[in-house]
Amino acid sequence: MKHYVVVITGASGSVYGLRAVEQLLVSGHTVSLVATPTGAEVMAYETGLRLPEAAAKETVLRFLDLPPDSALRVVADSDLFDAVASGSSAVDGVIVVPASMGFVGSVAAGLGGDLAERAADVALKERRPLVLVPRETPLNLIHLRNLTALAEAGAVIVPAMPAFYQRPETLDDMVNFVVGKALDVLGIEHQLFPRWRE
Ligand SMILES: Cc1cc2nc3c(=O)[nH]c(=O)nc-3n(C[C@H](O)[C@H](O)[C@H](O)COP(=O)(O)O)c2cc1C
Repeated sequence: MKHYVVVITGASGSVYGLRAVEQLLVSGHTVSLVATPTGAEVMAYETGLRLPEAAAKETVLRFLDLPPDSALRVVADSDLFDAVASGSSAVDGVIVVPASMGFVGSVAAGLGGDLAERAADVALKERRPLVLVPRETPLNLIHLRNLTALAEAGAVIVPAMPAFYQRPETLDDMVNFVVGKALDVLGIEHQLFPRWRE
């Protein structure tokens, strides 16, 4: 089984990040979850899940209704001494979902100022999969240029753009489509949406 880093930033749509965590854990992978400070605030506002400093893992697993022994690590964004800050650690991919334009700009500039940015930067330098699920609209030229720079550096950009051809009936269906497309990039099997013509 593999080890993925899931980064939740302060863009709207933390539900996408939580669904990604849930799916990866259910598939038997290890997940290191990093929420930026604004990511944690927006997540609390949008989903009601407030990340405590102590027992964060238990809190997330309870929220996701997953067993307490699931392979989840919740790591503080300020902890640049964590394993996933180093290219020497065994990480199979990083997924930033949702990705704010601030985060996209920082990673495009190579800042690596906190664990979330550093994990993304390490994925690029080590040529490991980096999947970004940006959420902003409309996009200005700076956003577009930063996303282009990241795509040129090897990231795969999976915009939070639900489709309608699979005829979604619920909000969950729409969330699942976006998350499923991001997981497809990492080659992770899932049943989040029906495949076209299958
Ligand atoms: C409720 C809320 C929703 C936001 N939604 C977005 C968004 O969809 N996209 C975005 O780029 N920024 C959004 N922002 C702004 C970011 O949170 C802000 O730029 C922040 O500095 C990003 O920092 P981070 O990437 O370290 O989390 C939102 C902020 C709030 C409070």
